Amino acid sequence: MSPLVWDLAHIGNQEELWLVRDVGGRDPVRQDIDELYDAFQHPRAERPSLPLLNPTEARTYVREVRDKVFDVLDRTPLEGRELVENGFAFGMIVQHEQQHDETMLATHQLRKGNPVLHAPNPPAAPAERLPAEVFVPGGSFEMGTSLEPWALDNERPAHQVHVDSFWIDTVPVSNGHYLAFIDAGGYDDARWWSERGWAYRTEAGLTSPRFWHRDGDGWQRTRFGVVEPIPVDEPVVHVSYHEAEAYAAWAGKRLPTEPEWEKAARFDPDTGRSRRYPWGDEDPTDEHANLGQRHLRPAPVGAYPLGQSPLGVRQLVGDVWEWLDSDFRPYPGFRAFPYKEYSEVFFGGDYKMLRGGSFGTDKAAVRGTFRNWDHPIRRQIFAGFRCARDHRPD
Ligand SMILES: [Fe+2]
Repeated sequence: MSPLVWDLAHIGNQEELWLVRDVGGRDPVRQDIDELYDAFQHPRAERPSLPLLNPTEARTYVREVRDKVFDVLDRTPLEGRELVENGFAFGMIVQHEQQHDETMLATHQLRKGNPVLHAPNPPAAPAERLPAEVFVPGGSFEMGTSLEPWALDNERPAHQVHVDSFWIDTVPVSNGHYLAFIDAGGYDDARWWSERGWAYRTEAGLTSPRFWHRDGDGWQRTRFGVVEPIPVDEPVVHVSYHEAEAYAAWAGKRLPTEPEWEKAARFDPDTGRSRRYPWGDEDPTDEHANLGQRHLRPAPVGAYPLGQSPLGVRQLVGDVWEWLDSDFRPYPGFRAFPYKEYSEVFFGGDYKMLRGGSFGTDKAAVRGTFRNWDHPIRRQIFAGFRCARDHRPD
C-alpha cells in the first residue's frame, strides 16, 4: 500500500491538475510535486522512499487546492465543454478522492498496532425468514448508463444485454456459511478450486480469509486493530476471487456474472426499466445501504430491507464488494474519457469484476452501474461475494 500521506497529497494533486489548472485555467499551486504523486510513475512499493510532503505540508497543500477549487466551481458554467458538462470533472475528482479514501481504509486494516478508528455498529437484520435465493427471469435488460452525469467511461453507454434466467442468493455469503466450507476441508480439497486458484492457495498457504487467526478450535479475526470472535451472521470479507469461486463450487453453485449482478440489482420487472440503485432512483441514505465508513464493518446478512431490489435481493450496494465471474471488458460503443488511463489500459488485463461497494465506499463512488476491478488474488480489499446458479434442484 501507499503511505497514507502519499494518498492524501495525491488526492490534492489530482484535484489541482484537473480542476485548478485544466478546468479553471489557473496557475499551478505546486507544480514541483506533480511527479512525486503521479501513480503511473511510481508504483506503490516505491512511494515510501520518495521525498513526500509531511502530514502538515500535505494538509496545507490540499486545503489550498480546495479553496481554489471552490472558487473555480463558483465561476465555471457547467456546460459548453464535455469535461465540465453537468459537473463531470468535479464529480470525477470527488469519486477519485473517495476511492483513495477507501484504499486508505484498507491500509488501516493492514496496519499493526492499537486500534485508532472507531464507529458505531451497523443496524441489525430484521427478524424474518428470507428465501435463500431469488429467481431472476430471463430476457434482456438495460445495462450501463448514458444518462448518469458522473458515470465513468467504463459504465457507458447504456445497452441491452440478454441474460438467461438464473437464481441468485438473497444475501451475501456469511461468515457462518464460509466456516462450514472451512470445516468441511474446503481449503484442502483441490476439487473445488480452479487450477490457478489451487496453485495460489497452495503457494500462499491459505487456510481462511485474510485477518482470521486460529483460536483453539475456533477462529478470531483482527478488524482495524481489534481482535474479536468471528461474527457468523456477517458477510464474509477479505477473501480473494479464487476463494469465492471455490466456495461457490463446494456449495453446488457458481459466482454470478457481471450482467447477472447488474440485472439482479437494477431490473424492475414491473416497468421493464433499469433503476439507478436497487431501491430506486434516489441517492443512497442511511436506510438503504451500509456505505461511507459510517460503520467499520458489514451489517449482518438480511439487513437494510429498504435497500432491496425489486426482485427482493438484499445488500447489493454497500457492506461488501462482490466478486463476479467476469473479466474487465469495454461495453459496446465504449469511448475512453477523459483519458485512457482511467479504464482502457486495464481492459483485458488479469482482473475480475467487483460490484456494489462496501461499508468503506462513499455513496458518491458507487451506483448500480459502477464497475470496479482487481486482481483475483487480492484479499485486503473489503470484498466478499454471493452465489448464483442456473437451476434450483427440486
Ligand atoms: Fe489516484
